[in-house]
Amino acid sequence: MTIQIVDSVENRSFDNYVTIKLNDSLYLFHLVYLRDNCTGKESFHGETHQRLIDIFNDIDLEKDLNGTVVVEGDELVVKWFDGHISRFTERWLLNHAYYPEKNVINNKAVKLPNRITWCKQEFNELKQASDHFKNDYNHINDDSTKKIIFNEIYQYGFTLIDNVPVSLDATKEVSELISIIRPTHYDTGVWDFTSDLSKKDTAYTSLAIDMHTDGNYWYETPGLQLFHLLLHDGQGGETRICDVAHILKLIKDKANEDESWQETLEILTKQPIEFHQSGESENVFIENRYPILQVDKDGELIQCRWNTSDRTSMLKGTKYPVNEIYRAMARFNDLINDTDNYVRFPLAPGTILVFDNWRVLHARTAFNGKRRLCGSYLTRDDFLARYRSLLFNREQWLESV
Ligand SMILES: [Fe+2]
Repeated sequence: MTIQIVDSVENRSFDNYVTIKLNDSLYLFHLVYLRDNCTGKESFHGETHQRLIDIFNDIDLEKDLNGTVVVEGDELVVKWFDGHISRFTERWLLNHAYYPEKNVINNKAVKLPNRITWCKQEFNELKQASDHFKNDYNHINDDSTKKIIFNEIYQYGFTLIDNVPVSLDATKEVSELISIIRPTHYDTGVWDFTSDLSKKDTAYTSLAIDMHTDGNYWYETPGLQLFHLLLHDGQGGETRICDVAHILKLIKDKANEDESWQETLEILTKQPIEFHQSGESENVFIENRYPILQVDKDGELIQCRWNTSDRTSMLKGTKYPVNEIYRAMARFNDLINDTDNYVRFPLAPGTILVFDNWRVLHARTAFNGKRRLCGSYLTRDDFLARYRSLLFNREQWLESV
């Protein structure tokens, strides 16, 4: 493998580029990109992998983005007119090639696995066919079990861990295995509550709670949630969970066939909806910038925010007609409450449920008797960082950044 310089153009600073041939494929690199991403030790910290050069302040972008590009050994070398020299190995160039698109190599080795969506039937098939969602607390520190737990949370949006001691300490231990506990005004560590209305929220009652995600009134919504039932001496209180990634697929399918569902999809993914938490005067939270379904550039779900109890009455100045917003919300509500689309099960002391609060809706049926539930909110970023480190070593990741 050798680098061949095929073409280069010099005109205005940001437009300058060099085209190289590597492994019979052509790759174009803009000189501004090469200067910004110079791998030399003056420009790049070898241990922190942070950029040391600041092209926006350190150089004159109009004058200094020009130089002589040559091949020396297996390196592409840019001898900049201001005296600086940048070197790029073939491996680096292949790893970072961004254009033309058809030649770009996807670093699949360091991609997290695809998410797997589920409806009730698919959930039941998964449960019957394999060992999914059957993790044992006594093995949570084994790498293989840990990997399954993290995989299940990432791929399916939830996991279950059995044989957990029925205690706050064990709940904290499992929480901290998965991520960092996210403190809130409700609690700063593992929360522990009964239906005593100690906080002014329906979670602290014995009432049924509809399908929802938590913390829609926060900018920093909890990434994951963990539940552990410590005691229940009555009836009811069953949990329901629903995969919104699956619901989004259903909505897209309908939108492909029916124009009115196209509008529903657009409203659900674009119209911001306001949520609030106003039960306590010193803790009033309002967030109004996000749609119910936040999606990425490919239309895949980033985050669902939904809790009809916490939705405010404000619909002033909406882009879409209010009646259409209600039609879209009603359709979403119908889908998430369709018995084909959710699973329902009782929580039990000794079993911990962990779920992705950005993807999986949860609900609770009404109950009677004394019920004590504990759990935690967990940060999403730390879960993802730990997950990456379980799947790949640092060197593998660093090649992809
Ligand atoms: Fe909740």
